[in-house]
Amino acid sequence: MKSISLDITKAAQFLKKDTVKAYAPQVKAAQEALERGTCPGNDFLGWLHLPSSVTPAFIEEIEECAKTLREKCEVIVVAGIGGSYLGARAVIEALANSFSWLINDKRNPTIMFAGNNIGEDYLAELTDFLKDKKFGVINISKSGTTTETALTFRLLKKQCELQRGKAEAKDVIVAITDAKKGAARTCADKEGYKSFVIPDNVGGRFSVLTPVGLLPIACAGYDIKALITGAVDMEKATSPAVSFENNIAAQYAAVRNALYSQAGKKIEIMVNYQPKLHYMSEWWKQLYGESEGKDHKGIFPASCDFTTDLHSMGQWIQEGERSIYETVISIERPNRNMLFPHDDENLDGLNFLAGKRVDEVNKMAELGTRLAHVDGGVPNIRISVPELNEYYIGQLIYFFEIACGISGNVLGVNPFNQPGVEAYKKNMFALLDKPGYEAESKAIKERLAQE
Ligand code: PA5
Repeated sequence: MKSISLDITKAAQFLKKDTVKAYAPQVKAAQEALERGTCPGNDFLGWLHLPSSVTPAFIEEIEECAKTLREKCEVIVVAGIGGSYLGARAVIEALANSFSWLINDKRNPTIMFAGNNIGEDYLAELTDFLKDKKFGVINISKSGTTTETALTFRLLKKQCELQRGKAEAKDVIVAITDAKKGAARTCADKEGYKSFVIPDNVGGRFSVLTPVGLLPIACAGYDIKALITGAVDMEKATSPAVSFENNIAAQYAAVRNALYSQAGKKIEIMVNYQPKLHYMSEWWKQLYGESEGKDHKGIFPASCDFTTDLHSMGQWIQEGERSIYETVISIERPNRNMLFPHDDENLDGLNFLAGKRVDEVNKMAELGTRLAHVDGGVPNIRISVPELNEYYIGQLIYFFEIACGISGNVLGVNPFNQPGVEAYKKNMFALLDKPGYEAESKAIKERLAQE
């Protein structure tokens, strides 16, 4: 089996000679701290050897549950937000037919995502859509109390029970949550739902290889064994025993820290040339944004879908403030083979492309863009993925996770907490008069009256 690979040469050229290599001892120390559990946030390191600890029995249990949901549901709604949502969506969208929504494929249920916003129109339209559908729900929340998800789940639970009856609804509602704490656990135990546990020591954004990601991915019909195998192989390929020169996660962590602190590159743009990878970038943004953006430090993770966004953000990237660098995920071989046709009249003047694969045009767009952006002062990191399948996506996921853990440690933050996410929640609860927030409610109302 091949492996994803990393090319940092077009980024390193923006740094003084050997700068990236000079990070090797720091990166090694950071990875050893993860390994020994001596780093900040060491109670959240359950993801580190998660792939290699997944057992066949566990995969079987997930697949069994997915089979039941697939048999009993036309639509499966996955309710979750942040780390309880983005990984599953990233993998499913990367693997799915781009038009799976519109294809009436009786073999596979439609997978929908909700509980990740509070849009009244969205929720009303979702409930309208589900009105005549045999649907099930996977309710995912580690805390079991996240407002967006809890609010959506209450609506979906009621609708499901109304449409299918309480007994049948029980068989098509699954909870993925903490083993003991939280409202989602209380509800699952009381109602007798099938449930899976999110391990205590795995934070939301590192949880895609737990049931949080695996169950929705299996429900969509994808091979979770291959996904885990890819992650296991990357776990081996990036182990602390591997030298810096051969460890792509160590190199990625080093080069991004070097660009940030030695070259003033404060923004990393994750770029893809395949629209199916849009949500992979969304997952990556959450992983790196929540892990590194703290203590008034951290690279701002942004993303663009090329070539689409070359016609919107391309100008800024080429000639705007030089505070950015790009990381490109390039898929070596598309799964489909489409040749551009010849046309006798050649009215569009495109016969110079006749007989070429569409992907050849895409690859030349990628190369041309890299040359232009590097000339324009934008360092370029390239991650090459042999093809879009479960195995290589598993590799990619673990690569980004381990690199994130190392990178956050090199930056000197705790990559595994997210204290900043609480600020808006506290205000929202105070404004909504949530019981327990009386003092905050009073204070926030007084403050608003003065503004
Ligand atoms: O990475 C994280 O910890 C967060 O993004 C959470 O996943 C997100 O806030 C959802 O939390 P919960 O799973 O508790 O509903």
